[in-house]
Amino acid sequence: PRFFALVPAAGIGERSGAGMPKQYVEIAGRPMLAHTLAALAAVPRLVQTLVVLSPADDRFEAALPGCSAWVARVGGASRADSVLGGLAELRRRGATDEDWVLVHDAARCLLQPSWVDALIDACEHDAVGGLLAQPIADTLKAGSADGRVTATVDRRDKWAAQTPQMFRLGLVEQALSAMGAAATDEASAVEALGLAPQLVRASMANFKVTWPEDFALAERWMAC
Ligand code: C5P
Repeated sequence: PRFFALVPAAGIGERSGAGMPKQYVEIAGRPMLAHTLAALAAVPRLVQTLVVLSPADDRFEAALPGCSAWVARVGGASRADSVLGGLAELRRRGATDEDWVLVHDAARCLLQPSWVDALIDACEHDAVGGLLAQPIADTLKAGSADGRVTATVDRRDKWAAQTPQMFRLGLVEQALSAMGAAATDEASAVEALGLAPQLVRASMANFKVTWPEDFALAERWMAC
């Protein structure tokens, strides 16, 4: 089997308040998406990366000139739809059920090639697959709509799910098709089939740029 990367980059990034899709916001002089793709391109075992854009995207070519990744304008209304569109495109380009697909958020632009290698090393012989994740350090609270604590959640067995998430193409396509838009990541869809993906510890730096203040934080991490 081969290893492909699939980067859903078809979201509008509403929570970021950036006034443009957040993957095009510049961090340290380059669009966030360029950093993400550069990290994946630095992993020799990945044969190719496919970027999924919105059909309405009119920024990619100007923002990432000469990009060597495959591009498909097949983004959908939800992240799961965008990933499913990308998986179909990988099939059209010759990928098979048995090939591994590493789905990685465009918005996790601090990705290090060594974390991707660690994920592949941990999962390439796994029957299910797995994901990068980070044990929760904070005490976790459940809250009500008006901002009151309703419960303290035991953090001891809790992890924050990150990406890449690595599954075989046939399995992740079946899982996402069954779960649909409710799947906010690939692992949750695979779990719904009764399978237990492997948790592979990465770093807090692999966070998803989401809120307005995250752009400055990403810039600082990148300077390290
Ligand atoms: O919205 P969220 O932060 O979960 O998005 C995670 C990733 O999924 C982002 O890279 C975003 O561009 C992508 N996405 C997508 N299509 C959507 C929604 C999100 O490709 N409809």
